[in-house]
Amino acid sequence: MLFGRTNVNKFLVEEQRRNPALAGDFSMLVSDIVRSCKAISHGVSRGALAGVLGDAGSDNVQGEAQKKLDVLANDAFLHHCEWGGHLAAMASEEMDDIYPIPAGNPRGDYLLVFDPLDGSSNIDVNLSVGSIFSILRCPGDIAKPTVEDFLQPGTQQVAAGYAIYGPATMLVLTVGNGVHGFTLDDEIGEFLLTHPDLKIAPETKEFAINTSNERFWEPPVRRYVEECLAGKTGERGKDFNMRWIASMVAEVHRILMRGGVFMYPRDSKDPSKPGRLRLMYEASPMAMIIEQAGGRASTGRTDLLKIKPDALHQRVPVILGSRSEVERLIRYHDEYDRGEDKPFTSPLFAERSLFAGGD
Ligand code: F6P
Repeated sequence: MLFGRTNVNKFLVEEQRRNPALAGDFSMLVSDIVRSCKAISHGVSRGALAGVLGDAGSDNVQGEAQKKLDVLANDAFLHHCEWGGHLAAMASEEMDDIYPIPAGNPRGDYLLVFDPLDGSSNIDVNLSVGSIFSILRCPGDIAKPTVEDFLQPGTQQVAAGYAIYGPATMLVLTVGNGVHGFTLDDEIGEFLLTHPDLKIAPETKEFAINTSNERFWEPPVRRYVEECLAGKTGERGKDFNMRWIASMVAEVHRILMRGGVFMYPRDSKDPSKPGRLRLMYEASPMAMIIEQAGGRASTGRTDLLKIKPDALHQRVPVILGSRSEVERLIRYHDEYDRGEDKPFTSPLFAERSLFAGGD
């Protein structure tokens, strides 16, 4: 179909007509976000040619070394979204505090939270990275937005999405009416609807977890992974496959395309951190997308979307993807907490030192 595809702007206008709650400048705000993602896509794809690889020489608020592209991507969001008059403030992984819309620009009643470049350890090796965003309403005075205005549970999100800068650049978006994927056509500079109404297969044979952290996991996660590894010979009676891209956007995208479960669970590696991933600009938006596509998103004990953040950069355990697998993991956490979990029966558990010891 050469001329007939729906572009993201048309899609948004139609969604706004369907849902009067998406009032005001909603579609224009998302168009500004889309422009940010196009600019980042361009920078990422130029890579070494544009001199954008390597470290920026600074750390973000969480003490992580920033890449040049982390900083450039953050600037792209600020630049494209601060002047339109749709936002009261923004917050990002790369900024310590909230970013109120600068004086002189009009303000609107939405808040934007984003991770400008997720999975940035992949940048310098030319693998997939992405941007994640979440749109909230500003409950307070838009003239004086505060951190408190941002600290809303994921259920309050008006929209969430990500762009993945992979072999093709795609935008995946939910405005609370399913999940829809758009592919960037570089020749005309537009995101075109290519994957309407994405649904996650309820069953899967694929899991994603950083197994180098295995000795720090809690028993319910060890139990789950152990059963997957035992494959046909174990409890599950089927063989599993494992993938780890080290880019949450890429893992979530794969799960939307062909099912699976992604885990960055609670671990004891650094007892001051209950998880690695950040609630407001990683876990919450991805949880909205996953649940809108029929999957499930949890910490193992609590639905991710129900958590009211207590800080902008709060970290949480994340388990998300195919519904039946996430529900199994929730059950394993529950059984463990109640002292009713099954002892590991696999011979692997007894023999492999990786599984020995524990909590
Ligand atoms: O900071 C977020 C992130 O890069 C995610 O995108 C990814 O899932 C995870 O961290 C990778 O963690 P690790 O370095 O432990 O593989």
